[in-house]
Amino acid sequence: MSLQDRFDELARRDAHADLGGGEDRIRRQHKAGKKTARERLDLLLDPGTFLEVDRFVVHQTHDFGMAEQRIPGDGVVTGSGLIHGRPVFVFAQDFTVFGGSLSEAYARKICKIMDLAMKTGAPVVGLNDSGGARIQEGVVSLAGYADIFLRNTLASGVVPQISAVMGPCAGGAVYSPAITDFVFMVKGTSNMFVTGPDVIRAVTHESVSAEELGGATTHATTSGVAHFAADGEEECLALIRELMTFLPANNVEDPPLRPTLDPVDRRDEALQSIVPPQPNKPYDILDIIRPVLDDRYFFEVHAGFAPNVIVGFGRLGGRPVGIVANQPAHLAGCLDINASLKAARFVRFCDCFNLPLVTFEDVPGFLPGTAQEYGGIIKHGAKLLYAFCEATVPKLTVITRKAYGGAYCVMSSKHIRGDVNLAYPTAEIAVMGPEGAVNILYRREMEAAADGAALREERIREYREKFANPYVAAERGYVDEVIQPRDTRARLCAALALLHTKRDSNPPRKHGNLPL
Ligand code: HXC
Repeated sequence: MSLQDRFDELARRDAHADLGGGEDRIRRQHKAGKKTARERLDLLLDPGTFLEVDRFVVHQTHDFGMAEQRIPGDGVVTGSGLIHGRPVFVFAQDFTVFGGSLSEAYARKICKIMDLAMKTGAPVVGLNDSGGARIQEGVVSLAGYADIFLRNTLASGVVPQISAVMGPCAGGAVYSPAITDFVFMVKGTSNMFVTGPDVIRAVTHESVSAEELGGATTHATTSGVAHFAADGEEECLALIRELMTFLPANNVEDPPLRPTLDPVDRRDEALQSIVPPQPNKPYDILDIIRPVLDDRYFFEVHAGFAPNVIVGFGRLGGRPVGIVANQPAHLAGCLDINASLKAARFVRFCDCFNLPLVTFEDVPGFLPGTAQEYGGIIKHGAKLLYAFCEATVPKLTVITRKAYGGAYCVMSSKHIRGDVNLAYPTAEIAVMGPEGAVNILYRREMEAAADGAALREERIREYREKFANPYVAAERGYVDEVIQPRDTRARLCAALALLHTKRDSNPPRKHGNLPL
């Protein structure tokens, strides 16, 4: 073989690998409204930065005529690249090759880049589009999944792990994305379920489509499995790139700074009138969050799920922060099971990756009702409490209005290591609201009175004056400062700069026992 023949041989093999399952299957993939694995990587990564590994790997199966069907890469494209100039490891499942199904060799490719990601401290982004375990390989394929699950678990809290589901993802395969930090889905072309519509019909006689059962909208709103539901693949991949701008590469790095021209001491007069004078009138907490952040930019996470709590990322003075906020515009900002789960997972993510937590609080308490109690609001609410308690990143809290009962303690209060706790003059910090308190404290007195209603109003007024304000808490140092709303940004930016060098830790132990 001449030298030129050898070069040609490589070019021929490269071209074969680039084609994946072949032109026919690529056409089918496009017809289904989906891009190929390589097209997706082109959109995800900075142009020209993808470095592929294992493009000639093939499976080792002989059964079911598989010996004659060996496709270089074996159904998954793996390697590394840059997102906004920063390294990430990637895998993209290739549905054109055996339906993207996972073989032993394929799993080994994913494990290889995950191991490298852990050693180098770089995030992993996985693009999922697969028919699941490769049926021809049997238990060997299941073993491959378990090898990946183990690595997902060991990498959790060490490097950020992002999953995009861009096609089918069924059976046990869903558990890899589920362990990762953020799950993105694409409306109309992706689905996730443990058991599909056919099995459900056979077992429970329920009739449900794949989209209804496990489509992007279902998981972004009803189950909460997905953090983002994108309108198309381009949007999905652009959202991942955007998310990465807030994250450090690993747990020993600080999140990336993004200098801003927005002055850290910018005052905002409009903030003086966002919280309404009537305690039960709703308002949109985003009208406070956005103006406070650099360039008024807030990147919301999990927006479709449990809208009574808001979570997401922003920057203060160039530094990325995680925002957690009660949303009085939904369920009066009550904490329920879903809101507790949503916020707890987010708080733990931020604590893993050195993202300071900024909490905006307006919470009348936990949502009452049998559905909540039977559903275990006790243990789920405890998850949020636990998450805030164990977090050692800088913790800043702004109480805008209600901070009642257990929810007061939970929402990053001073007592659970809040570093800087601020309150607006409109804050009401007490065991419960005036109406509830008066009903309990003065029931007998009101029943005995000639004009019970008038007495009730009088007692409510007294209670409100005495307790429904920030000053009782401020007198005890439970809030550090009562501030004018217009100064929120300046106070938070200053506090964050001060807390940059904060060091705190938890007692040494194998791990805590989060109330699961
Ligand atoms: C091998 C598979 C495959 C699989 C699909 N293909 N799934 N090959 N193993 N698991 C192949 C098909 O034979 C077909 O090959 C090609 O991929 C495309 O599949 P289609 O069925 O034509 O595509 P579509 O109509 O879009 O349907 C996609 C699908 C369907 C919904 C994913 O293929 C499907 O139901 N597949 C089986 C899913 C499944 O039961 N997987 C095992 C689940 S258990 P040709 O050559 O015709 O193009 C599991 C356990 C994980 O995953 C456990 C972890 C612990």
